[in-house]
Amino acid sequence: MALTDELAALRARTLESIEAADTSAALEQVRVAVLGKSGTLTGYLRSMGQVPKEERAVVGKTVNEVRAAVEAALSARKAALAAAELSAAIDAAAVDVTLPGRAQQMGTRHLINRIADEVSDIFLGLGYCVVEGPEVETDYYNFTALNAPADHPSRSMQDTFYVHDLSGDTSRVRGESDVLLRTQTSGVQVHCMEDQPLPIYMIAPGKVYRRDVADPSHLPQFHQIEGLVIDKGITFGDLKGTLDYLCKQVFGPERKTRFRAHYFPFTEPSAEVDVSCGICHGEGCRMCKGTGWLEILGCGMVDPNVLEMSGIDPEVYSGFAFGMGVERIACLKYNVPDLRMLLEGDMRFLRQF
Ligand code: DAH
Repeated sequence: MALTDELAALRARTLESIEAADTSAALEQVRVAVLGKSGTLTGYLRSMGQVPKEERAVVGKTVNEVRAAVEAALSARKAALAAAELSAAIDAAAVDVTLPGRAQQMGTRHLINRIADEVSDIFLGLGYCVVEGPEVETDYYNFTALNAPADHPSRSMQDTFYVHDLSGDTSRVRGESDVLLRTQTSGVQVHCMEDQPLPIYMIAPGKVYRRDVADPSHLPQFHQIEGLVIDKGITFGDLKGTLDYLCKQVFGPERKTRFRAHYFPFTEPSAEVDVSCGICHGEGCRMCKGTGWLEILGCGMVDPNVLEMSGIDPEVYSGFAFGMGVERIACLKYNVPDLRMLLEGDMRFLRQF
């Protein structure tokens, strides 16, 4: 076959392969096979020296025509493939703006904080102020100034986390540190009596800590709300009226309260307050263990010793104090059977409130 025929056949084959290439990579393979270093057309160009002189002009012209045709076809196909590949990529990345969005999950205010705020609001409405005290406390504020000296048995009612005393003075409390995580918010009473002008009408919400293992009715860390009133002529009647009002605000106007004599070192007399059971309304059921009553807080008239230790004259002033567990109130209000459910972070549970 004459060289020009071979070249015509090569041209036809190459143009066909170019049209058949359906990706840029396949097209590049065709280009390398024809025009690359050892490509077929490159081979013809290299061997021009061996072509007889009289044919060289014709063959040379043909080779150049083939190359021009191949290059033109390559660049046309390349542009077509690039456009197709771009539009395929755009299609693949397309966003369907008509799909419904995925809503962000909104959190809710935690029940513990809600109850603490609710109780705070009730007392703000009565003209009380809200104060805070330290969670890392000294033995003096948590126990001693509350009428529980070093060997007083009431200390064993609350198992305490002691904090390493950096002063190195470990001698004072049974060889243990003087610094502790407060077991009750009652120490804020002492801070207030020392720091605030009289009269005092305050509540103090906050975290407390006890060396307890978590179970349905105990948590090693929980919240309390302390209350303290010091004024002239304060009586147990004021205490009863105030706490009865609190219970009706929190649990509903139909609920009754009762005061049961109890012991706390810093109040005398002391009482525990029960609210009538919201499930059986006093008949007795599983919630109230058959008694018809639910215990909700401790309270009493501030012991004259406590007033004196903080520099207040018990002949002139009297007062009452109370303390409640926030988690307990939350569980009683919503019939939650286990305090730990408040802390498990299960949104199905928490979102209900
Ligand atoms: N601090 C007591 C406790 O944690 C609760 C309490 C009882 C507080 C009587 C008071 C009170 O202010 O008067 O068990």
